[in-house]
Amino acid sequence: MVQPPYILAIDQGTTSTRCILFDAAANPVATTQREFKQHYPNLGWVEHDPEDIWRDTVATMQDVVAKAGVDVADVAAIGITNQRETVVVWDRATGKPIHNAIVWQDRRTADECARLKASGAEEMVTAKTGLLIDPYFSATKAAWILDNVSGARATAERGELAFGTIDSFLLWRLTGGKVHATDPTNAGRTLLFNIMEQTWDDELLSLFRVPAAMLPDVRDNACIFGHCDAEILGKAIPVAGMIGDQQSALFGQGCFRTGMAKSTYGTGCFALMNIGTEPVLSKMRMLTTPAYRLDGTMTYALEGSIFVAGAAVKWLRDGLKIITHASQTESMATRVPDSHGVYMVPAFVGLGAPYWDPHARGLICGLTLDATDAHLARAALESVAYQTMDLIDAMKADVGEGATALRVDGGMAVNDWLCQFLSDVLVAPVERPAIVETTALGAAFMAGLATGVWSGLDALDEIWTRERRFEPKMQEATRAAMVEGWRKAVARAIS
Ligand code: G3P
Repeated sequence: MVQPPYILAIDQGTTSTRCILFDAAANPVATTQREFKQHYPNLGWVEHDPEDIWRDTVATMQDVVAKAGVDVADVAAIGITNQRETVVVWDRATGKPIHNAIVWQDRRTADECARLKASGAEEMVTAKTGLLIDPYFSATKAAWILDNVSGARATAERGELAFGTIDSFLLWRLTGGKVHATDPTNAGRTLLFNIMEQTWDDELLSLFRVPAAMLPDVRDNACIFGHCDAEILGKAIPVAGMIGDQQSALFGQGCFRTGMAKSTYGTGCFALMNIGTEPVLSKMRMLTTPAYRLDGTMTYALEGSIFVAGAAVKWLRDGLKIITHASQTESMATRVPDSHGVYMVPAFVGLGAPYWDPHARGLICGLTLDATDAHLARAALESVAYQTMDLIDAMKADVGEGATALRVDGGMAVNDWLCQFLSDVLVAPVERPAIVETTALGAAFMAGLATGVWSGLDALDEIWTRERRFEPKMQEATRAAMVEGWRKAVARAIS
């Protein structure tokens, strides 16, 4: 039985825009989704048309309310979660973007980043932002637009252009151009926001050549940012939560206490661990990032990402063609007692954290004549668990404590065998939530907190329930031998 009030969460991701309507018990009532076009205008360049994103956002919002069949009067709030780092620059007078959005995956500013690194700026940048100088983040993308769109830099300096990540752009559009704001989790991925002082930083703005006049206001994740234009849904609903997608999944997974961590398995995997209200800069090449800010108090997270998780299984299907559906890997992995010494290091596009080797390449090693497709499938799944273990181990080295539990979500989290193996190699419980829409749920939680649908973190804690918990059960000697094999395989893959 669904119960009002409802919260509408917009999840604007890299390849699709989704809307989920949650009820007051945080049950998803209806979901809508639209995939949109990716633009690759040059080698290593990735762009989105912001108008596509806007059109799909409005359409999915309208569709989800219609599909749920609820009275719009009962929709209490809107929350936004989004692909992070992606940059939009638009004209404040017309609301029109002056260039396509430059997506987080875009590498066009690699040379500029190399130049900035060579200038010795990285230490200062990391100390203030918790990030590294890399084209992944927003700052050099914004500067590229200002340098490459005729007249843009001067216009930006006069305050006539607005910079935003996708959350800001959607907020601006939803509020009919009335509000230009963002939240700390998105601001914290730009390389322009000092996460220690929680302000846009003049030294960073001048290093990356981004004018202060174009920046949004940074507000708590849960607050009334503004009201959605009544024309969109027939009611001026408050936009009351905004949070970058990976942090949103952390929040939607109920990781409110220090040491709680989540990992989300899509093409790659993003793991975040709540480290509390004191930021810790990583010695292990993890990122330090705002997890959320509530009532002015910032909670931080360590973040690590691996590039290939689900993509390894996709490769078994589309490259090797030894499976026809991803779900087959689970029965294949259980068909054999172990991987028979076979390891796969899926460094198809280099290795992410904590190795950061763009030139590493994938390998399969330990093959013998009796190795089978089942061993390969098992090695692929194991590689996902080992890589997650590498991230969590690196975080442990930074903060002194391992994850108290790892909460998993995303496509691969449905694989019971993988969850058990993950728990075994991590030597920690792995928990899978009852509500798997954790990314959208995080934004809904924020919007519900700001509008009084939920009273605080304790209330959210009660809502989060697990579907299943996996406890470690592997013998330590077996684990140690397997992990050692993984380390040797990685060493061979590194360039
Ligand atoms: O940092 C990039 C991340 O936020 C993108 O997430 O789920 O849209 O691929 P996703």
